[in-house]
Amino acid sequence: MTQSTTTAGRSAEAGTGAGRPARAGRAETVRFAATHALPELVRGFAGGRPHTTRPWSPLARPHWSAATLRAMRAKHGGAPVLVRGLSGPLLVILDPQDLHQFYAQSGAAPAPDRPHTCAGPGGGPPSGPVPEDRRGIDDAVLASGITVHPSYGPFLAVIAEETRRLTGGGTLRLAGARRAVARAGRRMVLGDAAAEDEELSGWLRRSRGEGTRFGLRTGRSRAVRELSDRAAARIAQYAGHAEPHTLVGRARRHADPTGSLDPTGQARHWLQAMDTVPATMLRTLLLLAVHRAEQDAAAAEARAADAASGELPRLRSCVRESLRLYPVVADLIRVTRAETEWRGVRHPAGTAVMLPVLFHQRDPEHMPAAHVFVPGRWSSHGAHQDFRMAPFSHGAGRCPGDQLGLLVVAAFCAAVLRGHRVRDGRPALEPMGPLPATLDPRGIRLRLAPR
Ligand code: HEM
Repeated sequence: MTQSTTTAGRSAEAGTGAGRPARAGRAETVRFAATHALPELVRGFAGGRPHTTRPWSPLARPHWSAATLRAMRAKHGGAPVLVRGLSGPLLVILDPQDLHQFYAQSGAAPAPDRPHTCAGPGGGPPSGPVPEDRRGIDDAVLASGITVHPSYGPFLAVIAEETRRLTGGGTLRLAGARRAVARAGRRMVLGDAAAEDEELSGWLRRSRGEGTRFGLRTGRSRAVRELSDRAAARIAQYAGHAEPHTLVGRARRHADPTGSLDPTGQARHWLQAMDTVPATMLRTLLLLAVHRAEQDAAAAEARAADAASGELPRLRSCVRESLRLYPVVADLIRVTRAETEWRGVRHPAGTAVMLPVLFHQRDPEHMPAAHVFVPGRWSSHGAHQDFRMAPFSHGAGRCPGDQLGLLVVAAFCAAVLRGHRVRDGRPALEPMGPLPATLDPRGIRLRLAPR
């Protein structure tokens, strides 16, 4: 961003742009730290992986956090509020009318210490190629924005095979889902040769979480660097022989005119991103276990002849709705690269702007039936441009693997539902809501009966 950003119309109304920012007072700051920032920090330390967030931690109470943010919004008339965060001031976006401006900040950078993305903390190693180049590789290899990934045929076959192993025992739990998805992920990213390589997944898991969170150094020990180097070397071995449809196979074909890009270097992030799948799949199936009619409709879609196209629109809406209720990334943080103006107040370059996604997605003041599972809302006109709902973010920072992620989660759910009814889900949920603020994937248990 090279110029001051304003929201059309609003700046004229606000006048000179020299207004004073709304600032959280001492009591609000303490409440924000206790109910929002600290629990998020704990979620970050829980491994940097969204699906390992610890909603069961005594600190993590999203409804306390929502109450804090709602009170702040009411007190400051909806204006973005400057709050003292754990690593400096944060401009917190509380009103839906400011969401568009947040996502339009194409030049703003993701915070280097952002708590987590689906692809791991910080989105990439500091020594990697510049973000624009990385983004170009991600967009091309993941086929960002294309509903059905070009490799959908082999990917759906892999998912069908791995689901057969997963459903054999008649119950579905997180540990089994993780194993099946990790195997499928290695096959899709690196090829069949990597199917059994749990050692590689272990190295990646243990080398994650290094760097900083909210400005606090978490350290990057020599041991961690060694693990990371070992993983990179192993990935490079697979990349040399991977089938053309795999993600590294596609990356190998990515143009690299200067020889400095290392297109296959992103593979570790793609493998990590697959970690979002097991918890999202289990939560979606648990919600479908309670909503029987929706489950039957999804199963019919899964059994229909055109399910082989991977589109599965109905199931994808269920997955999106499960992500609205239980997002992978609860807060988005961007650091501005130029002066910006919010409601007539200027903020210098380098301001950290935070959008509490979970808060907005579940905000009963602005979201109809905020705490109820309503997948149909995703098929209404304009739903995908509705900035209040952002499981994959919006604008330039949007997840490049959004469609691939939807395809993979929906295909796993379809493969389960094709042959089974999902029953007796635990924990028990009320179909008409309100749904609990969090759903610990480790506590989910689903019973499968033949269909
Ligand atoms: C349910 C599945 C997924 C969800 C909910 C999800 C969500 C997100 C979100 C919200 C972001 C933006 C984070 C931020 O701006 O701070 C993001 C970034 C990213 N996602 Fe995903 N994602 C999913 C699946 C995937 C998959 C399957 C891949 C690749 C195989 C992927 C690759 C990435 C990458 C590389 C980034 C970082 C982009 C950047 O730094 O520019 N995601 N994801």
